[in-house]
Amino acid sequence: MSVSVLAVASEVYPLLKTGGLADVTGALPQALAAEGIDVRTLVPGYPAVLRDIDESNVVRQFAMLHGGPARVLEARVAGARMFVLDAPQLFDRPGNPYVASDGKPWADNASRFAALAQAGATIARDGIGDFQPEVVHAHDWQAGLLPAYLHFMPPPRPRSVMTIHNLAFQGLFPASVFASLELPDQAFGIDGLEYYGDIGYLKAGIAFADSVTTVSPTYAAEIRTPEGGMGLDGLLRKRSQVLVGIRNGIDCTVWDPANDGYLAACYGDDSRGARRENKSWLQRRLGLDADARALLFIVVSRLTPQKGSDLLLEALPALQRGGAQLAVLGTGDMELERRFKAAAEANPGRVAVETIFDESLAHQMQGGADALLMPSRFEPCGLTQLIALRYGAVPIVARVGGLADTVVDANEMALAADAGTGVQFAPVSSEMLECAIDRTCDLWRDPVEWQRMQTRGMRTDVSWRAPSRAYATLFRALASSDG
Ligand code: ADP
Ligand code: GLC
Repeated sequence: MSVSVLAVASEVYPLLKTGGLADVTGALPQALAAEGIDVRTLVPGYPAVLRDIDESNVVRQFAMLHGGPARVLEARVAGARMFVLDAPQLFDRPGNPYVASDGKPWADNASRFAALAQAGATIARDGIGDFQPEVVHAHDWQAGLLPAYLHFMPPPRPRSVMTIHNLAFQGLFPASVFASLELPDQAFGIDGLEYYGDIGYLKAGIAFADSVTTVSPTYAAEIRTPEGGMGLDGLLRKRSQVLVGIRNGIDCTVWDPANDGYLAACYGDDSRGARRENKSWLQRRLGLDADARALLFIVVSRLTPQKGSDLLLEALPALQRGGAQLAVLGTGDMELERRFKAAAEANPGRVAVETIFDESLAHQMQGGADALLMPSRFEPCGLTQLIALRYGAVPIVARVGGLADTVVDANEMALAADAGTGVQFAPVSSEMLECAIDRTCDLWRDPVEWQRMQTRGMRTDVSWRAPSRAYATLFRALASSDG
């Protein structure tokens, strides 16, 4: 059965990306097309998005939408069919989509993302041309109000799915914005938008969606506990019946070591010799010692407490005693960026840090590194460890969320059974991270075992094939149920 789905998200690769959300919203529609699911995505008309639109036409106009007129453009971008909300007063501004140049959230974020949800709900209800969505797929807090708008529409109405990519970002605003949202009074309340006196956009989505998903089975369990629920565990427990964890995949055409234009040398799981060339290229590029025998660890990540960046800084002695090298590509907390730069200065030739966002370098690091470190305190899914598996960089991960679900620990029994694709550690502390680094250095000293582990990782299915089937099944079930 084919189903029409309107996805609503604040970023989508290749138009605009600040993290894994964009990778997911960029790749999932293509994977779902193979399942007979027709997804079109509504995104805000940021300058970077409007710049890339090749062919567009106006399919809907709003005389007034949160402070000014707005239009919805239909466009085909990089082969995908999209809707773009062109509302200059809300989205036509330089810089980051969420924060101003002083690092603080844009003062009108409540209006910007209410507008996105309202426009999405209107399109979903009225359809555009012959596109009449049966299901609306809202991604993260920026689309969180959408299920609320749909819930209060008279039936028949499309069904809604709220996907939580990260419970740490909830879209909290003062209750005073409620009046501007044009929702009925009963939407505000403990069972609705209200969150300890404030308003929570993600909470609204979780409360009102017909189905709630998150991006790995383990994270789906963790967020129902007080430790992992970030204040929403009670509501998530209440919604357990409709909550499911579907792990992310990666776009295996974007991330394909056999055909990656950014790499000095391309390779497959049977031609890994080329990785040596990429490693020495990377060592040169980053100013690391040209040392083929040193175990080269990388980090490609936001530098934040979530990602355990501070734990890694504390675990540097383990890298030093193992004779390893570390290359970090990341941006984030200024203090963490400063500490990583200081570590690079203190360890010339052994530690290198690039505090930039650079898509090409992300590919080059995955293609040349021996191992990837991800000591996250929590991780809804994580994509960089999936990319690392495919590229033959052995992932060293904290046993949390999607990391627990996607990396098989290479312990003694696993190795004896010809299993194991990386190293897991728990609990998440700098001491246990040091132990994991020591273990990795031991594995590295056995090249045969290391290569087996690498090959198993490269042959692991990290694509969207299985997860997109799970989404397709969910969308079909919702489309055929009564609204
Ligand atoms: P999150 O979304 O929590 O930041 P994910 O692991 O899901 O983490 O996704 C991160 C995505 O962003 C990956 O595609 C990764 O390659 C990319 N990325 C992170 N930091 C950088 C950076 N500094 N430069 C380039 N790409 C980056
Ligand atoms: C979030 C999470 C990350 C996940 C990504 C895409 O940014 O932090 O774990 O992979 O969304 O779902």
